[in-house]
Amino acid sequence: MAEFETLKIEDRGAARIITVDRPKALNALNPQVIAELSRAIEALSQALEAGDRSVRGVIITGGGDKAFVAGADIAAMVDMDRDAAMTFASQGHAVGEMLANLGVPVIAAVNGFALGGGCELALACDFIIASEKAKFGQPEVKLGVIPGFGGTQRLSRRVGVARAIELCVSGEMIRADEALRIGLVNRVVAPEALLDTCLGIVATVAQMGPLAVAEAKRVVHQGAELPLAAANQLEVEAFAGLFDSADQSEGMRAFLDKRSAEFEGE
Ligand code: CAA
Repeated sequence: MAEFETLKIEDRGAARIITVDRPKALNALNPQVIAELSRAIEALSQALEAGDRSVRGVIITGGGDKAFVAGADIAAMVDMDRDAAMTFASQGHAVGEMLANLGVPVIAAVNGFALGGGCELALACDFIIASEKAKFGQPEVKLGVIPGFGGTQRLSRRVGVARAIELCVSGEMIRADEALRIGLVNRVVAPEALLDTCLGIVATVAQMGPLAVAEAKRVVHQGAELPLAAANQLEVEAFAGLFDSADQSEGMRAFLDKRSAEFEGE
């Protein structure tokens, strides 16, 4: 997809791989990267809504072998005033919202530094698979600011308030094994196995009912914001709603017939 200067986009099997590709700046997120990420995700969202089932999962990673994303671009931020910073942070948050609302899972394949806005981009994905070389941190306080793309909020929801505050006030970097221990990442794998692990997850998801996958993601995200009784009701309604789908009938009949299900996403 030639219309992107800062991203590489490639479809492999059922996976769309989005690579933030500014390795000389350790893939730092400047306004152009944020705008291009928005466009890339919006294009996929529209295709999914139009019933295109070719992409069943997204993998976001970083170009080069050193960084996932080393943060928002400090050179682009240094002269920002309050209004410009407000716009920039809002645009970063909009990308996070779009990822959460996408009807397919989004995996962060963290291959190196995931700092500041890079840690936040990873947190905005549905889950993180990290290479043994990955390092995570929210070093914004070293720059006299705080996380602006969701770090204070998504990090505390992922690892708890106390750990999030420790990371956000110390600016300390943690290694992949520590990130695994505190529940920031789902798995840690050898660097050379990172992409294949993520592709394997998408390949597994691609065999499942597309409507069910989209609903599972939606209900987990939306339910996390609700009191338990309301969240459980959301699940009841989504569960029942899927009984209007051909996929439910196909999935259950295939089990009883001892054959593989062939889902149409309908
Ligand atoms: N913004 C702009 N450029 C960056 C960058 C960033 N966040 N991170 C790295 N770079 C650039 C460096 O300036 C350097 O460029 P030059 O070669 O032109 O000098 C190049 O990438 C390579 O970086 P280093 O030479 O610093 O590499 P290193 O191996 O010595 O250190 C590092 C790696 C520890 C990741 C270090 O680059 C670093 O600390 N980067 C900044 C991390 C950071 O503070 N991120 C938070 C940004 S603020 C933010 O993200 C706000 C928000 O929430 C929205």
